[in-house]
Amino acid sequence: MTKQFYVKPKVYTGTDSLSLLEQYHNKRVGIVTDSFMASSGMTDRVQQRLSSCSVKIFSDVKPDPSVDILVQGAGYFQSFRPEVIIALGGGSSLDAAKGILVTLQDLIPDQKILLIAIPTTSGSGSEVTSYAVISEPESGRKYPLVSDQLLPDIAILDASLVLSVPRSVSIDTGMDVITHAIEAYVSTNANDFSDALAEKALSLVHTYLPVIYRDGNNLQAREKVHNASCMAGMAFNSAGLGLVHGLAHALGGVLHIPHGKINAMLLPIIIEFNAAQQQKTAIDRYVTCAQIFGLNSHSGPYAVKQLVNEIRRMNQTMGIVHSLKALGSDLQLLAKNRDSIIQAALDDGCTQTNPRKASAAEVDRLITKIIG
Ligand SMILES: NC(=O)c1ccc[n+]([C@@H]2O[C@H](COP(=O)([O-])OP(=O)(O)OC[C@H]3O[C@@H](n4cnc5c(N)ncnc54)[C@H](O)[C@@H]3O)[C@@H](O)[C@H]2O)c1
Ligand SMILES: [Fe+2]
Repeated sequence: MTKQFYVKPKVYTGTDSLSLLEQYHNKRVGIVTDSFMASSGMTDRVQQRLSSCSVKIFSDVKPDPSVDILVQGAGYFQSFRPEVIIALGGGSSLDAAKGILVTLQDLIPDQKILLIAIPTTSGSGSEVTSYAVISEPESGRKYPLVSDQLLPDIAILDASLVLSVPRSVSIDTGMDVITHAIEAYVSTNANDFSDALAEKALSLVHTYLPVIYRDGNNLQAREKVHNASCMAGMAFNSAGLGLVHGLAHALGGVLHIPHGKINAMLLPIIIEFNAAQQQKTAIDRYVTCAQIFGLNSHSGPYAVKQLVNEIRRMNQTMGIVHSLKALGSDLQLLAKNRDSIIQAALDDGCTQTNPRKASAAEVDRLITKIIG
């Protein structure tokens, strides 16, 4: 089976990496971000590096960006004809910027546009992926667009931009990184290149996320988890993800749970599901994940159990509940949409590389488990 691994974005790291923007002179630059970034001064920090450029800011991105925002953003920039788009913010802003750029490129095909991604959360890895996750609020659908056109040219990882992320968002997004690394590692498309990145990402985030939980101002820990997020993004961009993400998108589109949180809740349940069929490859890979977590691993199913327990322990320690009931989700809304959620999870692009194929009845049982 042919597998692929390639790296496009140039990745710049360090707390002075925004200075890279100073090389752009007299350009038309569009910034795509959300209202928090604009009001918190974060957008100003970027704009200050673009003193000779003409800058136009679109700051209307909302969490879980919708198709409407792409059209709105592209319309906003059409006559400005940006030469550079800067995607600034969490995964929502990055994905919105990617979608806006592709929509805009259709409107002004003769304008070449450079895409620079500056993540301000450590989670989505969107700065190095060909994915943009888009929502359709009317239908309650949330699905990943996948295209090389969505891959940024440059990623700037400045961990000082992440210091202000509130604790709960840091934990949710950090658990998203763990989910990316583990799903990429057990994916049917995993390869030596994605494995190397997933293993390192897993080790970094397991060590440093608890440090951030205790002290969000620890710059070294922020840097490590920011890098881990990017590495896990590279890993899954090559290997794909799995059923955790497929089901998280389907549930998240209807219930509007933060992406990392619903992943963290589903991860132990789906590891148990994947390992239950005694698939040697998946079990061996989960055993390695347990070893990376420094667990005193015995072989096979016992190590999988240890891994599951460790993820549950992390969730519990850092305040992520284990069920939709405990989260206070709208279970009536879930019941009303249950069939379409199951179908959306099965159809989701991420589900296709899960190590165990799931039937509709099995996804239904997993939903019963996560309801609690
Ligand atoms: N494209 C991909 O490859 C990919 C992968 C995983 C997830 N996603 C998507 O990314 C989205 C989630 O992204 P996210 O988890 O980064 O959350 P987010 O972008 O929705 O941001 C969460 C909140 O954190 C705030 N925030 C962001 N940076 C901050 C900072 N530095 N200080 C203080 N507050 C800050 C935002 O304003 C927002 O209110 C989801 O839509 C998910 O589906 C995409
Ligand atoms: Fe994710």
